[in-house]
Amino acid sequence: METKSDETFVLLGGTGDLARKKLLPSLFNLYKKGKLGDFDVIGTSRHDLSREEYVRHVGVNINKDETWDEFKENIRFARLNFYNPEGYEVLQKKLLGCGDQRLFYLATLPQHFDVITDNLAALDLVNETSKVLYEKPFGEDLRSAKKLNRTINELFPEENIYRIDHYLDKELVGNLSILRFSNSIIEPIMNAEYVDQIQIIASEDFGVGERGGFYDRYGAVKDFFQSHLLQLLSLVGMSTPEKLDAKCIRDEKVRVLQGVSIMDTMTGQYEGYRDEEGVDEDSTTETLAAVKASLDGPRWQGVPFYILTGKNLAKKYSQIYIQFDKNNQSAMAGDGTIPNSLVVSIQPDRGIYLVINTKVPGGMQTEPAKMEFCHACHHGPNTPSAYENLLAQALAGDQRSFIRYDEIEEQWRIVDGMKLPEPTIYKPGKVPPEVHNFIQDGEWHGLS
Ligand code: BG6
Repeated sequence: METKSDETFVLLGGTGDLARKKLLPSLFNLYKKGKLGDFDVIGTSRHDLSREEYVRHVGVNINKDETWDEFKENIRFARLNFYNPEGYEVLQKKLLGCGDQRLFYLATLPQHFDVITDNLAALDLVNETSKVLYEKPFGEDLRSAKKLNRTINELFPEENIYRIDHYLDKELVGNLSILRFSNSIIEPIMNAEYVDQIQIIASEDFGVGERGGFYDRYGAVKDFFQSHLLQLLSLVGMSTPEKLDAKCIRDEKVRVLQGVSIMDTMTGQYEGYRDEEGVDEDSTTETLAAVKASLDGPRWQGVPFYILTGKNLAKKYSQIYIQFDKNNQSAMAGDGTIPNSLVVSIQPDRGIYLVINTKVPGGMQTEPAKMEFCHACHHGPNTPSAYENLLAQALAGDQRSFIRYDEIEEQWRIVDGMKLPEPTIYKPGKVPPEVHNFIQDGEWHGLS
């Protein structure tokens, strides 16, 4: 029988949105699936709350059933101001009564990371089996990310560090390496000889909401491109790792990131952004960015990577679109056929499909058809959320879908080197023509 260890989850930033909307619900789901042993959750906040008040506060977003009452018995609260050592002593006392497998989740803004790290280390709260999880964004440029890495790595070994990018824990992103490296018909065509262009798109149909203050300092490039999209680029672009383990995968991803060149960029800002709460009235922060990039080395020579992220566009979807070279097709090339494509649809529809040319009945005319793996049809609609996956993987000590220190530095190096043009103003819900014109040799897949 599987032996279960005593786990303690410490949520620093325990009353924040992330803790309430993602972390507690994910822990509750893991509990219901029997994936937690004898566990405790310690939420921290600078507010003076009783345990009961804290439980009520975090319970609002929980889809409760009869097991909630059992689960909530394991929730504790520690009042802790990140900048006051006394709070960490309160936490230390609480930890004495809890399991030794500690998972510290820094669900806070990056400016607090070093002070929290220092204080955890000063009281020796992080032991050999502890995991320390840092939410994104990790820093705000290369200099701050390097400084953070130095502080952290002086105190804790890299094996205890889990830098988060929740995109890596989405089911279809996890599927990408499996698709590429466990299907012998896919990998041989993932190169410049067969691929014409690759698009990585993350379009959102909502604005910055209550996150205006944060967002205005970052913008689409630092918030989304720097993290999620560069990670997707490295997963699509990487060469076959020796093994599918954390070290080999991350070594290969770093190689891709080191070879990224930015060829062109355009940015946009949605109309009304400057009126959002927390946003500067003269802000030139971009809420949309389109980037054309290339990768070094023979595998992808001459293949453009078109990358797009934008808020307040017409619809929410994320996907990777790989278009194969029409010139490499059969004798019918140019005869009404379309280029083949392989699409990894990350959300909201989850799946992988290949578009092929087929014959229309009764003649030799062709039409495109989809050969599809529909994720929800096979696995149902309720597969684990990204946060559930990442908590389970951190618990298991699996660092494959967490970012190593050198990856994050490469990501910031790329972004620091980008010169962003003035944003074009666009109407919410409408993709500006500049985005459509950005691709000279084709069009964005699925963008309307
Ligand atoms: C976050 C970004 O990391 O990811 C947000 O800060 C973005 O701006 C979000 O909206 C998108 O993630 P998901 O999983 O909700 O699509």
